[in-house]
Amino acid sequence: MSAPPVSTCAFDAQAATDRLRAKNARATLTWLAETPSTNTLAMEAAENGASEFSWFVADKQLAGRGRLGRTWVSPAGRNLYASCIVRPRVTPALAPQLALAAALAVQRAVSMCGIASQIKWPNDIWSHGKKLAGILCEVKAEPDRVDAIIVGVGINVGMAAAEFPPELRDVATSLAAEGSQADRTDVFTALATALEAVLAEYAGGGFAALRDEYNAACLLRGKHAEIIFGEQTLSGIVAGIDADGFLLLNTGHGVERIVAGDVTVKK
Ligand code: BTN
Repeated sequence: MSAPPVSTCAFDAQAATDRLRAKNARATLTWLAETPSTNTLAMEAAENGASEFSWFVADKQLAGRGRLGRTWVSPAGRNLYASCIVRPRVTPALAPQLALAAALAVQRAVSMCGIASQIKWPNDIWSHGKKLAGILCEVKAEPDRVDAIIVGVGINVGMAAAEFPPELRDVATSLAAEGSQADRTDVFTALATALEAVLAEYAGGGFAALRDEYNAACLLRGKHAEIIFGEQTLSGIVAGIDADGFLLLNTGHGVERIVAGDVTVKK
């Protein structure tokens, strides 16, 4: 007897495009059955002049990449793997703020799918103590200006808890596992809409316009955290994010402003 079919979580590229047109979104969508990494595709397209809000979405990634050189588990039929070209008018020094803005967009999209979440600085999305989504931003810049940022988003949508590899089972979750009925078309449409809205707010007022919302969603605020950046490790209580997008860490010897790093929350 053959095994019962595994149910998949739908992605309908035409329906997604139709919904985005109905919202007057600028997004365009390229859908692929599989690709090494949607970020790589988007970067190649950006280098060839593709326009802002060009999205590349794949059913499956063969070499999905995470932050800090990690792998992003990317099986077919379950989750959203999506990368978008954005072209903010900023200097390279401000690029990290766009990674924080992208986190807010993902958090809003998750909320539109009915699930409460928090942002683990800089841009992981967590729900009930487990990671639900991650973002990998890659920058193409001239010395004085950003040419493009690839915002690569992985959202666990339909994965059942038992489908995660054993080493991720205690630390990863999905929209379905949290109780959402949203399929990948819903999630992608919400994400593309939210990213355009957040970037319009950023263009109008810089990161300061997003800071309060980011701080309200910040998982680390008030927590004892250890932060590794480069060769350095600092620990202290997280005070929040400042108007420039730096994490403020009260070490007991003063407040450090940190632009990027890997964080562990201490008990
Ligand atoms: C992280 O939390 O480490 C970031 C994960 C980012 C994964 C997404 S999936 C779509 C895009 N393509 C990739 O290869 N990575 C990003």
